[in-house]
Amino acid sequence: MSITIADLRKWKAERKRFTMLTAYDYTTARWLDRAQIPVLLVGDSLGMTMLGYPDTLSVTMDDMVHHAKTVVRGAPNALIVGDMPFMAYHASLEDTVRNAGRFLQEAGVHAVKMEGGGRVIEYTRALTGMGIPVMGHLGLTPQFLNQFGGWKVQGRSDEAAERILADAQALEIAGAFSIVLEGIPSPLGKRVTEALAIPTIGIGAGPHTDAQVLVIQDVLGLTPDHVAKFVKAYAQLGPEIERAVRRFDEEVRSGAFPDPAHEYASKPTA
Ligand code: KIV
Repeated sequence: MSITIADLRKWKAERKRFTMLTAYDYTTARWLDRAQIPVLLVGDSLGMTMLGYPDTLSVTMDDMVHHAKTVVRGAPNALIVGDMPFMAYHASLEDTVRNAGRFLQEAGVHAVKMEGGGRVIEYTRALTGMGIPVMGHLGLTPQFLNQFGGWKVQGRSDEAAERILADAQALEIAGAFSIVLEGIPSPLGKRVTEALAIPTIGIGAGPHTDAQVLVIQDVLGLTPDHVAKFVKAYAQLGPEIERAVRRFDEEVRSGAFPDPAHEYASKPTA
């Protein structure tokens, strides 16, 4: 049976920790679903991992729906969350409702995620009131990169920490079913987690959050450039891919591939 937001609420009450991973394509989603990863996020981080942009700001709703459809087809058991990209929920409530609706109707995801507090709290109330579950996202929210002046840990001052805590509580009251906490000091991750009845999902927020999320390319060792301090790679698939395709290239150039085991005879062998 597939995972629902009710499961996440139950796990929080039972203090059962869980994982979320990003997924952007059918094949990866199938493997993650086989591994019983309960929550998959079609993150706007696909701007970097799939589309080669330097940040998430150029990602469009069309990009997100396109990738989300493939993840939905690949992962029938996971709770799938679609990340609302920059400008999909910034101009008006009407835009927000239309774009969140696209995610559920066109792509078939189960919930949407929006970054920040402020107006997003009001939008969260509106969407949940229409049956669209919302995951919040606070702290080092990548869509605020220019506002923050770079990838900087958030919530270090008392005032900033209080604001994040207050936003988290307001999102919970507005109906959010969980909140991603990104790039904040561990003690603040703990404080927010203890203050909420909904699960917190940390990424660079320390060990005390109810769940942890990472970008799948980082987990698999596929990120060619710098990775953040909070990233742990559980495999090194990048070098493995390079080795495999170099061997293929060598074997084709030497004539070793295709060999008899990989070719068709004119008549089937008896
Ligand atoms: O887009 C994304 O991948 C995210 C996660 C890092 C939480 O928002």
